[in-house]
Amino acid sequence: MSSYYDQVREAADFIRGRVAQVPDVAVVLGSGLGDLATRVAGAVTLPYTDIPNWPPSGVVGHAGQLVVGDLAGRRVAVLAGRAHYYEGHSLLRSTFGVRVMGLLGVKTLVLTNAAGGINTAFESGALMVIDDHINLVGTNPLIGPNDERFGPRFPDMTEAYSKRLRALADRVATERGIRLAHGVYAALHGPSYETPAEIRFLRTIGADAVGMSTAPETIVARHMGLEVLAISCITNMAAGVLDAPLDHHEVMETARRVKDQFIGLVEGAIAAL
Ligand code: HPA
Repeated sequence: MSSYYDQVREAADFIRGRVAQVPDVAVVLGSGLGDLATRVAGAVTLPYTDIPNWPPSGVVGHAGQLVVGDLAGRRVAVLAGRAHYYEGHSLLRSTFGVRVMGLLGVKTLVLTNAAGGINTAFESGALMVIDDHINLVGTNPLIGPNDERFGPRFPDMTEAYSKRLRALADRVATERGIRLAHGVYAALHGPSYETPAEIRFLRTIGADAVGMSTAPETIVARHMGLEVLAISCITNMAAGVLDAPLDHHEVMETARRVKDQFIGLVEGAIAAL
């Protein structure tokens, strides 16, 4: 069995052999936000199942794909579909794609997700820049022997989400008339949604939104020195905020409703990098 590093390198080499130009920006698409991939020009589409060692994602109906091409004047890789921890992948496996992007030479990672709104000033459909996260997944993707080729044993997380890119997102949002919130994202492993008591706990410890992804990917990206911008689509108010049960269909529907704003924001941010 080859080392994890070799598995990542094998995937990166495979991709390098299939695209004319390697990307310098990668975008990971969250639930219901997949339409951005269709905006990539001159796209080379690589199904995850074709890329060596790449874990399939659990998106209903397809295993996900990597789309490499031009978006907003930049060479980008769009990861349409991600492998979640709750699907039974280890965190090592679920952050594999980010590792591959790092080895390909990507310098900027844009993470997107669907999240529940904990901050009662939010409304369903709001877009939120992640200023910081609280990792409550219960584990960490860097557990295990550290491979110095990826990064240091104890990576700094004081600016996990780039201050520069957060300010850039604000400028783009103002230009495009998009209302943009900011907040702290709490990452839980799921897949059950939270209880109202858990949401009150998360609010008390300083979380504004909650979801089941992103924090492990950010940790891995920072380990490799990538600059991270992350945007949550608040697809629903979190459990107990409103007097209504949570439903994945609502998550998908809300994401679809705001997809034009979302695409505008991400494209604008990429153009302004
Ligand atoms: N909780 C956790 N993950 C989520 C939610 C939520 O309310 N909405 C979308 N993803």
